[in-house]
Amino acid sequence: MAPIVLHALPGNESRSEALAQALAGRGLAAASRPCMLHRFPDGETRVTVATDPAVSGSEAVVVCTLDRPDAKLMPLLLAAAVLRDLGARRVGLVAPYLPYLRQDARFLPGEAISAPVFAQALSARFDWLLCVDPHLHRIPALDRIYTLRAHVAHAAPLLAEWVARNVEQPLVIGPDRESAQWAGALSERIGAPLVLVDKTRLGDRAVRVRLPDLAPWAGRTPVLVDDVISTGRTLVAVLEQLRQRGSPPPVCVAAHGLCAGDALPALQAAGAQRVVCTNSVAHACTPIDLTPLLADAVVAALAA
Ligand code: R5P
Repeated sequence: MAPIVLHALPGNESRSEALAQALAGRGLAAASRPCMLHRFPDGETRVTVATDPAVSGSEAVVVCTLDRPDAKLMPLLLAAAVLRDLGARRVGLVAPYLPYLRQDARFLPGEAISAPVFAQALSARFDWLLCVDPHLHRIPALDRIYTLRAHVAHAAPLLAEWVARNVEQPLVIGPDRESAQWAGALSERIGAPLVLVDKTRLGDRAVRVRLPDLAPWAGRTPVLVDDVISTGRTLVAVLEQLRQRGSPPPVCVAAHGLCAGDALPALQAAGAQRVVCTNSVAHACTPIDLTPLLADAVVAALAA
């Protein structure tokens, strides 16, 4: 196999090092190297990738999770471009959090549908992509909008294992209909009951939720499961209703803890006893390490 070189965009160095070590444990020698970014005074960016080991003929893998994506996109495209210029055999992207999937329709006249636009930008530069639990709702699969080879890993087994170890008598609650895919996978793995909430989004930080009758599960610990915690207001709304019903302190579990602004304190103030997310992005919640999952998926991506 061609030499494997992981190229870490800033902020992804330790993720990339850990991945290289995990790949070594799976019999794949991989070097991890940082990409250097220089910001010119006028705001433009220069990207320099490592050339030792040589890029030519290598399996180049850019490692960059894509929360807060706008500032990361140009460096990412430049890194992919130079790796291609320098003769990489293939250029892949490990982006545990893949953004721009929630605007998958035009909700109001004149709105850009960002999901396919972002997909086209990445597809033009990368041969393959690996992400974790992309937010797929109206778009049923990534290959509907991505023309590169998309690999998807699922955090449900890791999240389920954490819940099984740490929560007695869980009741899994999906905070909206879309969450059935994530909450359902978790509840099945641990054999816990699942209920879904009706949610209406009123604005960036405002949702209205309607919980079903939870009396049949009185005494169980609510475990709220979503793919993304962004402002946290979806889960806050559910937490507030649970508190009004006198429920035991709930646990919040999500694949991606974007935790914009005051999301985490707001969840705690609304009664969450724990907030647990994978380390797909940096946050102050309890982290669950994705490295083994990513390493298995990279092995599969490189073999494809
Ligand atoms: C919705 O489509 C997603 O699955 C999440 O429920 C949503 O992104 C959470 O956003 P927030 O934390 O801002 O309520």
